Amino acid sequence: MSAIDEVKQKTDIASVVSQYVALKKAGRNLVGLCPFHGERNPSFFVYPEQQSWHCFGCNTGGDVFSFLMKKENLDFGEALRLLAQSAGVTLPSHPGRDEEKEEKERFFKINEAAAQYFQNLLLNSPGGTKARNYIQSRGFTEKTASEFQMGYSLNEWDDLKKHLQERGYTEDELVQVGLMVKSDNGRTYDRFRDKLMFPILDIKGHVIGFGARVLDDSLPKYMNSPQTPTFDKSHNLYGINLSAAAIRQQDTAVIVEGYVDVITAHQNGFNNVVASMGTAVTEAQVSSLKRLSRNLVLALDADAAGEEAMLRAVSYENILESEIRVAILPQGKDPDDVIKEDADNWKKLLSEATPIVDYTINMLTSKLDLDTARDKSLAVKELLPVIAEMKDKVRQAHYIQKLARLVNVEERTIEAELSRLKPSIDRKRKPIALSKQETYDYKSPLIRSSRLEEYCIALLLQHPELKEVNKYPTSEYITNSENREILLALQRFNDLSTLKENIDTAIHEHLDSLVKWELPPNNIEQKYDDCILRLEREFWKNMEKGKEEMLASEREEKGPGADLIKLEEEGIEPSLRMKETYIKKPRGG
Ligand code: CTP
Ligand code: MN
Repeated sequence: MSAIDEVKQKTDIASVVSQYVALKKAGRNLVGLCPFHGERNPSFFVYPEQQSWHCFGCNTGGDVFSFLMKKENLDFGEALRLLAQSAGVTLPSHPGRDEEKEEKERFFKINEAAAQYFQNLLLNSPGGTKARNYIQSRGFTEKTASEFQMGYSLNEWDDLKKHLQERGYTEDELVQVGLMVKSDNGRTYDRFRDKLMFPILDIKGHVIGFGARVLDDSLPKYMNSPQTPTFDKSHNLYGINLSAAAIRQQDTAVIVEGYVDVITAHQNGFNNVVASMGTAVTEAQVSSLKRLSRNLVLALDADAAGEEAMLRAVSYENILESEIRVAILPQGKDPDDVIKEDADNWKKLLSEATPIVDYTINMLTSKLDLDTARDKSLAVKELLPVIAEMKDKVRQAHYIQKLARLVNVEERTIEAELSRLKPSIDRKRKPIALSKQETYDYKSPLIRSSRLEEYCIALLLQHPELKEVNKYPTSEYITNSENREILLALQRFNDLSTLKENIDTAIHEHLDSLVKWELPPNNIEQKYDDCILRLEREFWKNMEKGKEEMLASEREEKGPGADLIKLEEEGIEPSLRMKETYIKKPRGG
């Protein structure tokens, strides 16, 4: 038995979850108020027999690892270690991995020491006066400056270097962590000089890097840490350490562009605001927010919004499994300006944020004359690929309808165009014929569903060409966290050894077994499609079952659909898929 299996066997999901949620019995299962979204009526279920959980309000679920990952903002390895410790299971150590971890820890420490050093200079050095005045001129209070650990770097070439070397860090390390630069002739010097320093922290509060602003109008205005083992600008969000709680609580995250925008927002009580640090929002940033909330508002200027909207919006919506909205800023202003001018106006802009797809449609059609045949066809050509990408079929139908009305043609015509557009993407959907000879040796429902997950992943691992269609089972269909981890890594890395480097070593054994799994030799693509479809079906079947149990466990008298109304009253937008199942099959009587 692998160490992971041992941990699972010795861990009781109900007792782990009970540490966070008051659970009561509902038949064979347990039910409580979901810890991931605000609700007054319990729709969060724990299934002890399957050792799994699911919330019918926010439609998330998984095993004990994913519960802890979500609740405590951990990665898989951290959740595993935590549970292993309380279960008394010793995990095998992996030297390479441990070294890497140690190096990271050391880099955090160096950055931490540098942040303290900069902060101290800001508060206490004569040179810091200039920076203190600047902070004041931007309207930041001392409290804000200290909350964001702002600092100042001296106008010297090696003051930080000396300071950190005295504390036992080597020149080499300082270069690696990005605090020093090595010139061509081998000399090293401090990267940040005479700057206002903004330490960048990860969600757990490690200092991973720095942003630095000049104190005048000179250019470049900002300088950042380079990419290092602890810092990757495109993977992190500035302010996440101070925003995570509010994002979860308000169940919405707002992404702005700049450091100063975040700081001003927080100073004015808008605590769910983070910054993408000047670059277009990335998939990694969106995925990391998904753990906190699915509701995302991008505060962008009209130009950036235009690009963002066209570019990746829908694929991000597919990741979040919800809608992204844009709040359009007045011409030439950033959130810092807007909030300082009138905080109520900022509130208003956010509350009026438009779904990004509608925004795209409005933008495009405002430039067209939709009474002409030419522009009608242009609008469809431009917008259909955006709509085609939507995973959520109900949403897709909504936008097909919208587009049809806009150009005043029948929906059928749009649908025909759509199916012409994506014969390659979406060619299955025909009823699946399960090949009879494929026998799975299933023992229990739990094992069965996880075998199916594994089969699907084994196919992907052994037949990389399947990845070309870019179609994967939704992570929600995968209950087992090891499988989820591998599936996510599969989508990010193409070669097996890189993939392996990027997942926790504890999963390596499991990964190896999937790589070696003997698969049938032919019809791979068909098998893969079937497999996804079966996963999907199984998922919805379980949902259906779970939902029945949920309904059964409620005593009050209600007509059909009352539960849906209840969810909506609570301000929860059940996924459209869920809505569909509610509407399709109202409870008899
Ligand atoms: N940025 C950067 N490097 C630059 C310029 C910008 O990394 N040379 C990033 C920073 O994270 C910055 C964000 O892009 O906060 C937005 O840039 P910009 O709008 O130019 O600056 P502001 O945030 O408005 O800064 P300020 O208000 O201090 O002028
Ligand atoms: Mn600004």
